[in-house]
Amino acid sequence: MKKHIAVLPGDGVGPEITEQAVKVLQTIAQKFGHEFTFTNGLIGAAAIDATGNPFPKETEELCLKSDAILFGAIGDPKFDNNPATKVRPEQGLLAMRKTLGLYANVRPIFTFKDFVSKSPLKPEIIKDVDFVVVRELIGGIYFGKKGRSKDKTYAYDTNEYSKPEIERVAKFAFELAQKRRKHVTVVDKANVLETSRLWRETIQQMQPSYKDVTVDFMFVDNASMQIIKRPSEFDVIVTENMFGDILTDEASVITGSIGMLPSASIGEKTSLFEPIHGSFPKAKGLNIANPIGTILSAAMMLEYSFKLSLESKAIYKAVEKVLAKGLGTKDIVTENQLSTTQLAEAIIEEL
Ligand code: IPM
Ligand code: MN
Repeated sequence: MKKHIAVLPGDGVGPEITEQAVKVLQTIAQKFGHEFTFTNGLIGAAAIDATGNPFPKETEELCLKSDAILFGAIGDPKFDNNPATKVRPEQGLLAMRKTLGLYANVRPIFTFKDFVSKSPLKPEIIKDVDFVVVRELIGGIYFGKKGRSKDKTYAYDTNEYSKPEIERVAKFAFELAQKRRKHVTVVDKANVLETSRLWRETIQQMQPSYKDVTVDFMFVDNASMQIIKRPSEFDVIVTENMFGDILTDEASVITGSIGMLPSASIGEKTSLFEPIHGSFPKAKGLNIANPIGTILSAAMMLEYSFKLSLESKAIYKAVEKVLAKGLGTKDIVTENQLSTTQLAEAIIEEL
């Protein structure tokens, strides 16, 4: 199989970790007889410094003509602490999601069996956790009307959803559940929000087309509690943009290190794959960041965009074996701490 991949390293540790995932993809190509080619593009603070725009037109074009996108991270403290900043790196991320139409953000939450003791939660609670959060990514309060009054003392952000937007992401969640344990939990706040009532109504109307899938509805405040109390009972959670943002940070704690979790953002034309952690500016250039989240994002790319499930599973297996040997970066092991590149080498060795 021949595929072209856009690589957007971005800021902070982004360049270091995407480099490791590219090496893993090259190893897979060699081992399974595929041809993957890679082109780098600018995004985030790196793109602002070079062009003044956090998501330059050139990067957009590169993404649109690629079969998939591998993304590192975005964000630089030099923008966070300066209220006068006009363009922020995060605007590049939101612009990219919107222009590329990345409507479903898929964040799997699972534990590695040799790893349950690393979580702050009790092993008996998290040992069988295996669920996926499908977060709507280009609607809701992130993209609704927003503004300030002239005298600057009043501000508003609007939560907006249309039926087709809900149907599109719900269809993705239903189909994903059909390949898993056939259970969808819709997380909303339908006791208060009109948008949530539209979510419920729309998904209830879709249910007859997915008779094999059990659906339940849960208020977001209760869901935030159940994710910690009985996380193993979830299979697929589908929810709006902002609730999904918050719940996935909460859920990442189950795995033990946010450095380990991958994600996919599914679009109509092309899809993007990135670790769920941020740019970790303090670690920039130090070769200490955990590359596993990005390497597993590459595994998700093989599965979701290229339908190469054998190849994808090979990466998960290799990561599992390396962890079983007690190897890891300093966020996950206390002895024999490896660098970013050493941990990636160990995974490539297993492959
Ligand atoms: C995420 C991040 C982004 C979001 C920020 C950086 C805009 O927190 O990908 O979850 O809120 O979507
Ligand atoms: Mn977030």
